[in-house]
Amino acid sequence: MQEKRVSGFSKKSKQDKIDWLQVNCYPQEPQASADLKKFWHPDAELQKVIDAFSENTVSNFILPFGVAPNFLINDRLFTVPMVIEESSVVAAAGSAAKFWLTRGGFSAQVKSTIKLGQVHFSWFGPADLLKKKLAEITVFLRNEAAYLSANMEKRGGGILDIELLDFNREEPGYFQLKVSFETCDSMGANFINSVLEQFGESLQQFIAQDAELSAYPVDIIMAILSNFTPDCIVRASVQCPVEQLAGACTHLDGSAFAEKFYQAIRIAQIDPYRATTHNKGIFNGIDAVVLATGNDFRAIEACGHTFASASGQYKSLSSCRIEDGIFHFWMDLPLAVGTVGGLTKLHPLAKRSLDLLGQPDAETLMGIIAVTGLAQNFAAVRSLITTGIQKGHMKMHLQNILHHLTATDKEAKQAIDFFHDQVISFNAVQEFLNRLRTQIA
Ligand code: MEV
Repeated sequence: MQEKRVSGFSKKSKQDKIDWLQVNCYPQEPQASADLKKFWHPDAELQKVIDAFSENTVSNFILPFGVAPNFLINDRLFTVPMVIEESSVVAAAGSAAKFWLTRGGFSAQVKSTIKLGQVHFSWFGPADLLKKKLAEITVFLRNEAAYLSANMEKRGGGILDIELLDFNREEPGYFQLKVSFETCDSMGANFINSVLEQFGESLQQFIAQDAELSAYPVDIIMAILSNFTPDCIVRASVQCPVEQLAGACTHLDGSAFAEKFYQAIRIAQIDPYRATTHNKGIFNGIDAVVLATGNDFRAIEACGHTFASASGQYKSLSSCRIEDGIFHFWMDLPLAVGTVGGLTKLHPLAKRSLDLLGQPDAETLMGIIAVTGLAQNFAAVRSLITTGIQKGHMKMHLQNILHHLTATDKEAKQAIDFFHDQVISFNAVQEFLNRLRTQIA
């Protein structure tokens, strides 16, 4: 086996890193280093900004930045930026947006924006003694962290509540401080983590100085935010009389469509296998906007999936009801996002995304993201219960297959015409191109 171990890699220059990769990892592919460098940004200053986002950056990984227009949300029209590689997601979002545009649009309501963090520690004394001292401890911790929270407080946020949780039954000696925060328009991860680490140090100090508490050993295990933010929640919804769903497909009237749609949502509430795919479709929309606006899609996904399991069984994030002839479709979703700080201003296209959305505050962005997820879910379920998804999906995917088979513009046009009413598959497209090419030869 080839020796690929390396030390001091991160200290090498970018060019040296690429040279090392070329020699050690791509020995049979002389083009590899040129391929990596092809995606360096011509603006060297901008490239430096991008390089600094991560470590050992050797190139940029390109994804499409698309937009889905016609999103009417709380009576405001938005063109939603989406970064996603999967064909048909942006088209599906755009089509659902257009469908609801003429049916009153979407509504989005933020219930609360509370974020959470934890200091996990062990202390082997009686829980009641610690509980008795909690008020004193929290005053001490708040004072010690005041230098960190002052700015956030000026913006209207800060540290909200500090709770003591006793997990001795599950794990001897294990306690937790569960802390809630308001971080205004920032996602607040750095603020929260800094406060929590300070809390950890201060708690240790308090215990060491207290005559009663110091009789028992304390150890701060870790201090970190929780990505599960069930109170930082937004509801996205649509509703219309069932007759108005008549346009949703060609072969079902509004009422039949509504019933079938309702069944599809129920299945995703009952069966975790279906729920996972169903929610994946929701996250197609959510992740795309989260990424486009420079937010952390891993945090959003982790939180969403925990929330979907809150009942003890993994379920659909969206719900549907038909009542008095009205079709209601909605989703409650925790979304801890920011419109200031993090990558939101540093990444040039995240900044452009936020410009496109009219510089939203965090609550407005929560609404836009949740609505895009709901729209995506509506589009996916509509296709699934009517035409199936492959027709639309493969139509979009045809371009990828044509690129893969290096079709010329002329061949691509002929293929698109031909496959207009044909089943698309890789083999079918390859055969079609082969036929074309042998006819011409
Ligand atoms: C594909 O990326 C997403 C869907 O599978 C979602 C769903 O099944 O609801 C179409």
